[in-house]
Amino acid sequence: MPKITVIGAGNVGATTAQRLAEKELGDVVLVDIVEDMPQGKALDLMESGPVYGYDTLVTGSNGYEATAGSDVVVITSGIPRKPGMSRDDLLKTNAGIVQSVTSQAAKFSPNAVLIIVSNPLDAMTYVAHKVSGFPANRVLGMAGVLDSARFRTFLALELGVSVEDVHATVLGGHGDTMVPVLACSTVAGIPVGQLIPKERLEKIVQRTRDGGAEIVKLLKTGSAYYAPSASAVEMVESILKDKKRILPSAVLAGGEYGIKGLFVGLPAVLGSKGVERIVEMQLTPEERAALEKSAAAVKELCSTVDTLMGW
Ligand code: LAC
Repeated sequence: MPKITVIGAGNVGATTAQRLAEKELGDVVLVDIVEDMPQGKALDLMESGPVYGYDTLVTGSNGYEATAGSDVVVITSGIPRKPGMSRDDLLKTNAGIVQSVTSQAAKFSPNAVLIIVSNPLDAMTYVAHKVSGFPANRVLGMAGVLDSARFRTFLALELGVSVEDVHATVLGGHGDTMVPVLACSTVAGIPVGQLIPKERLEKIVQRTRDGGAEIVKLLKTGSAYYAPSASAVEMVESILKDKKRILPSAVLAGGEYGIKGLFVGLPAVLGSKGVERIVEMQLTPEERAALEKSAAAVKELCSTVDTLMGW
């Protein structure tokens, strides 16, 4: 059985653990600093097994010994946004948290693939890469799947069709500068531009960019967790089953799309080695410019991280 650690047993972490358990993707270890809480949630999840029909072993822990030898570690720790906050406002607090949990997790699972979910996503993936010392193929961030899922939801609602027939790709940083790629956004293979008038499409793109903030505004006390956890689990599944799905993920660009040395959302083949390859596609000059702008925003955040952490 593969072993999956989920760090942070808040809404995103606990829902991720639930989805992993229900899919029987591996034994799950749920870690949080709050005493007894991850143990309680883990036991509750185990006790759902007989009803739901899964045999997944779920363990809760306040330390990292129990996580030893994990194949995948999902990092969800950090504070969420409050209404009016941008993901970038979380930088200082979450960089310290991600630094601390990554170094402990990496020590106990030196061969794991790390999937970062904490915000601001691209910068936190950079922190995890730097702190773990892992090769770049084993450090990636969850954002593109979520942003694409939001775009697909809104497109399907607009057209009154099944989400299953709607495909979409959103690249760039997980922030206001994300880049929906319209040529790859199709409904049963038909580019969305043929089905939805330009002005409507622009509104849908904007709603996608604001998708996280729309939920924060409604929840008032936290950020989204159902779609983020579903997205993280899709990435875990592709890695553990070596499915080699092409999923937009925050990965270390090595010159693809003219970007080098930065973690940013790009289409990546995810398999047993983690990020197996970045897939390049033609972008329009506007999309290319938007991706460069997004990469520049990520770069700036990473330099702020460097200053904050004294790197
Ligand atoms: C969102 C947060 C989790 O997009 O980044 O909902």
